[in-house]
Amino acid sequence: MTKRVAILISGGGSNMVSLVRSMTGDHPARPCLVLANSADAGGLARAAEMGVPTEVVDHRPHKGDRASFEDALHDVIASHAPDIICLAGFMRVLTEGFVSRWQGRMINIHPSLLPKYRGLHTHARALEAGETEAGCTVHEVTAALDDGPILGQARVPVREGDTPETLAARVLESEHRLYPAVLRRFAAGDRTPIWLE
Ligand code: GAR
Repeated sequence: MTKRVAILISGGGSNMVSLVRSMTGDHPARPCLVLANSADAGGLARAAEMGVPTEVVDHRPHKGDRASFEDALHDVIASHAPDIICLAGFMRVLTEGFVSRWQGRMINIHPSLLPKYRGLHTHARALEAGETEAGCTVHEVTAALDDGPILGQARVPVREGDTPETLAARVLESEHRLYPAVLRRFAAGDRTPIWLE
């Protein structure tokens, strides 16, 4: 049976676009929802243009009450009955209460070679540390931040003169190759990691 995929974003949604575009033909999944935590997320318009239903669950009215935000998030997502949730630049930390409801069905992309550089400012931190390579990781989401079984990694070189911005752009290109490849495999029930150079 074709799997239904909900994609959660906070910004421009370039990873979301690469995932949606990949789900055609004999792909075992189709997008059923793009959800953002702010109506300002640029990716919402791009999703609508591609014919994917969109929703917004704004975190701001729930300030100081993460559980109520996550309850609202859960209800809206559940109403679209996804089999899989892809976090694609979704910049809200999710607590165990939410994660446990989707455990084994929720994956995330992070712009570093985990377990290195969990959290924010990954590219600046990698440059500061003098890394010669960087990259991105897709992993199953567990309650610990940017943790969980690794489903794939793509590596890119760090170049002389790189800034956080030039490195981010190179890593983002690799994200657009890795995430669709992992989703295709994950949706087919295969959790064997993918390693891309
Ligand atoms: C991507 O680089 C993604 O890996 C990162 O945000 C960017 C979103 O770009 N995610 C995180 O940092 C999550 N901790 P996009 O909106 O163009 O896909």
